[in-house]
Amino acid sequence: MKKRIAIFASGSGSNAQKIMEHFKKHPEAEVCIVLTNNPEAYVLQRADNFEIPTHVFDKQEFYNTNGLVDLLKNLQVDIIVLAGFLWLIPQNLLKAFPNKIINIHPALLPKYGGKGMYGDFVHQAVLTNRDAESGITIHFVNENFDEGEIIHQARFKIEKGDDLEMLKFKGQQLEHHHFPRIIEHLLKKMKSSI
Ligand code: GAR
Repeated sequence: MKKRIAIFASGSGSNAQKIMEHFKKHPEAEVCIVLTNNPEAYVLQRADNFEIPTHVFDKQEFYNTNGLVDLLKNLQVDIIVLAGFLWLIPQNLLKAFPNKIINIHPALLPKYGGKGMYGDFVHQAVLTNRDAESGITIHFVNENFDEGEIIHQARFKIEKGDDLEMLKFKGQQLEHHHFPRIIEHLLKKMKSSI
């Protein structure tokens, strides 16, 4: 049986898109569901385009029920990928999928992590601090924002004149290249499904 990937995303889902493309015809793994807290998220359209099922949930379902754990267990999900998902992951999900939830962050953690540090806020802080480089981090998820063990980082140089859009672009290029490959690598290392 193929390894099964669940993607959580709250917005555009360009990373989700790259992951769905990467695994579309993959012999050993597949994206089996896309989940979002945002009924307006463009990632829902992207998932439809790949004919991948979706699930929209609210805070009540996420934090006060076991609904998502049951759903993901029933689907026999092997890895949960947060691709632009901004809510803190509750204990019941962490316990049900130990070391199987990963996140991507648009900075070189531990710099520029924590609550409120996402998307453009991260790039703006990097610019304000006049850093010489920035990058991306893929890491395991724990009960705190952006603090789990780091799996992979990739960096880029900040050139004179680079603005927020350029930082975003350079970061996204790295994210789109590395994220699907790291997921594939992790799945290969996992001996059995949950
Ligand atoms: C990505 O850049 C990801 O690193 C960031 O959200 C963006 C989602 O873009 N995540 C965080 O900031 C998490 N703290 P996408 O919807 O186009 O994939």
